[in-house]
Amino acid sequence: MAMFPIRNADPMICSIEKETIMTTILRIDASARPGPAQATGEQASFSRTLADAVQQGLIAHHGAQVTFKRDLATDPLPAIADATIRGFYTPAEAMDDGLRAATALSDSLIAEMEAADILLISTPMYNFAVPAALKAWIDQIMRINRTFAYESGQFSGLLKGKRAYVTYSYGAGGYGDGGPMQSFDFMRPYLTMILNFIGIENVTSFAVEATTADADTVDAAMVAAIAGIERHCADAGAV
Ligand SMILES: Cc1cc2nc3c(=O)[nH]c(=O)nc-3n(C[C@H](O)[C@H](O)[C@H](O)COP(=O)(O)O)c2cc1C
Repeated sequence: MAMFPIRNADPMICSIEKETIMTTILRIDASARPGPAQATGEQASFSRTLADAVQQGLIAHHGAQVTFKRDLATDPLPAIADATIRGFYTPAEAMDDGLRAATALSDSLIAEMEAADILLISTPMYNFAVPAALKAWIDQIMRINRTFAYESGQFSGLLKGKRAYVTYSYGAGGYGDGGPMQSFDFMRPYLTMILNFIGIENVTSFAVEATTADADTVDAAMVAAIAGIERHCADAGAV
């Protein structure tokens, strides 16, 4: 039992404690479409809209903050090059200026992940897999001795103590458990495995399927998906 009532606590100490325990989110979007539909007539990105709901839920219920955002569609990342790969496999003490420059982007992207408690990724299915924009990010952050290690014949993830939320959108339906399209889903199992591989075991995903169906069907699917997200975020275990 507390010796002193909380209301007597020094407000400065409370605010320091609050800052110290703030949950930070790194948000990464991959759809080529922009966010919620605008007056300009662009079609909304369903995966981004679901991620907005996760973000709002984590902020509203847990005081989390988005500390970094990466839009892989508007700011695409370059594919890794020969020098990038050589830099990945060169020990720090043997790096020259050229290799340091070739791996500087990877360094920044990994630092963004290391600084975040939560990764919030939104992605559509393109041709049964993640979009090339997201694959370019994956190729930059999968890095030996930085995000994973290989010792004594074993791989191990190095980004421990984090969790991930991923929102997915699929144009067709039937990708869920036991569905007729499940075996064609090279997106969700792949991305979950990538996150697990680098040490992020706690991965929660939300999906909307059949986004190319008629408007009423899509609206109902989005309402149901967002309700599920809100229920999840309201739970104390969401962060
Ligand atoms: C280039 C491209 C490829 C696509 N490939 C698939 C596919 O393989 N399977 C599928 O179910 N939907 C596919 N779709 C449909 C998208 O997954 C669907 O429109 C989704 O809602 C897009 O996500 P967004 O709304 O966040 O942009 C594809 C769409 C595009 C533009």
